[in-house]
Amino acid sequence: MFERSSSISKSRALSTITVSRISDRSSGFFGSQISTAFFIRNPAMTTATLPSADNLQATILQTLDKHAEIPDTREIECGGVRMAGSDEQNLVRGVLGSLASKEMIEYSQITTTSFETTPEGSGIAASGSHEYRVWAALPAKGQGEPVGVPELKKLVGDEAAKVGQGKAFKNKWIAKEGSGFVRAIESPVDETADQLRTIQTSGNLEDQSVVKDLQKRKLIQPRKHIHYSVKKGPNFATEVKELETDLTVEMLQSGAWKDASFKLYNFAAAGQPTEGGALHPLLKVREEFRNIFFEMGFTEMPTNQFVESCFWNFDAMFVPQQHPAREVQDTFYIKDPPQALEPERQYYERVRNVHEIGGYGSIGYRAPFSDTESQKLVLRTHTTSVSTAMLAKIANQPGGFKPAKMFSIDRVFRNETADATHLAEFHQVEGVVADYNITLGDLIGFMQEFYAKTGNHKLRFKPAYNPYTEPSMEVFSWHEGHKKWIEIANSGMFRPEMLEPMGLPKGVRVLGWGMSLERPTMIKYKIQDIRTLVGHKTDLAQVKVRPAVRLEKGDD
Ligand code: PHE
Repeated sequence: MFERSSSISKSRALSTITVSRISDRSSGFFGSQISTAFFIRNPAMTTATLPSADNLQATILQTLDKHAEIPDTREIECGGVRMAGSDEQNLVRGVLGSLASKEMIEYSQITTTSFETTPEGSGIAASGSHEYRVWAALPAKGQGEPVGVPELKKLVGDEAAKVGQGKAFKNKWIAKEGSGFVRAIESPVDETADQLRTIQTSGNLEDQSVVKDLQKRKLIQPRKHIHYSVKKGPNFATEVKELETDLTVEMLQSGAWKDASFKLYNFAAAGQPTEGGALHPLLKVREEFRNIFFEMGFTEMPTNQFVESCFWNFDAMFVPQQHPAREVQDTFYIKDPPQALEPERQYYERVRNVHEIGGYGSIGYRAPFSDTESQKLVLRTHTTSVSTAMLAKIANQPGGFKPAKMFSIDRVFRNETADATHLAEFHQVEGVVADYNITLGDLIGFMQEFYAKTGNHKLRFKPAYNPYTEPSMEVFSWHEGHKKWIEIANSGMFRPEMLEPMGLPKGVRVLGWGMSLERPTMIKYKIQDIRTLVGHKTDLAQVKVRPAVRLEKGDD
């Protein structure tokens, strides 16, 4: 509560003073011009009364020139304004920082504490303590009717009557007469109110034990003030010289550098925050799935090829060439190059035969099989093309087939119109397990184990159809938050028409399943529209702040 009063030196003497030397280098305010915006913190503040930074700077330099030192910056007067308040000292601080950066001055910060009355304290300072008000409400002895308690309550209020009456009695200010009270002395000294009034005018009291007591009674509260002491620095001058910030070619050529003064580097300044990359939510969720696969002994398949031949994307999987999914409405075909390299001849012939005439216990599709169709190139419509190529590879690996568990998580493409839940490209999470004599029971068990690790403990299976699996099943999971069954995957046992032409041993069965990566990601991050997850509508700031997710925690 320092007003611009003449009591500064008195209050300072009464206050606790901490002096800390501020290193010039770390003053942090190295700009040569002082932004006034920096000081206008409180819009209600009467900015008109503050001097300009330039004027204040001139005043400070002139004062130092005359007196060599300013022991207390609150005593500075500039343009008729005394720099005693905290807004003024903020302005002073800016100017000092700027001058110190040029080593024109040195300054130290001084922190003082003064006190101000709380609302309750202000009330007492204004109308007296409770006991005083009780005394004031009573008649002098013999000069009127003694006042009883109910009457007293009416006169001074419940609170003052209750607290004040006891104290006034203890102080012997009042006396009992009949069933009421009268004054016992002529003019009591209302010490508390006097002390509070002194606090209001000077911010402190001589007797610190009284200050402590008033503070304990919550009648006053401390307030910190900061001001500064200033002295000349090594480069002191009354005029501020413009400092050069850069050594230029021109200065070197003209020789001007010899007389130039350079601004000091601020090695203590905080640097620009470094921009780090951030994982996209899809990548965070992908990492969770990858770890589950690794935990279950899977190896990752190489999926670094977005363009596939129709042979691997469809034919080798026993998808008929007449299948509607192969139409341009659903699949992106590549124009250039116009066709794929030829696949391995004998395998190709076996695939062609199983389509046209059957084999391995199948009657085939009995429809014409076109080489041109098979050689067309597409943006892969599923990562199952990769799984197929990998199965064909392990069927023919050196040393022969060995049981395998393989997975992949990568991008696929479908000719879809973009809407809130569809994009023309998305990611598939896919796994295949190849071993002797595995059954649909293994697939179900496997799904239960896998999805339990992702927090999905209640699964349901529904018969479905895929050209390349038989039987096929859609997998549903109970969503606790939405209270409904949500389809999470498509799965099945690969058909012999697909596996046997590859040369896999007869007893080998392969189970497989696939799902989108976007779906669980959207559920986890509560994203409603897929277009805000991937593509030009994505908010990059959100990508940075979104936390990692833990799949095993389930969805809420
Ligand atoms: N390829 C299937 C899809 O795109 C997923 C799948 C993979 C189904 C493996 C069965 C076996 O939905």
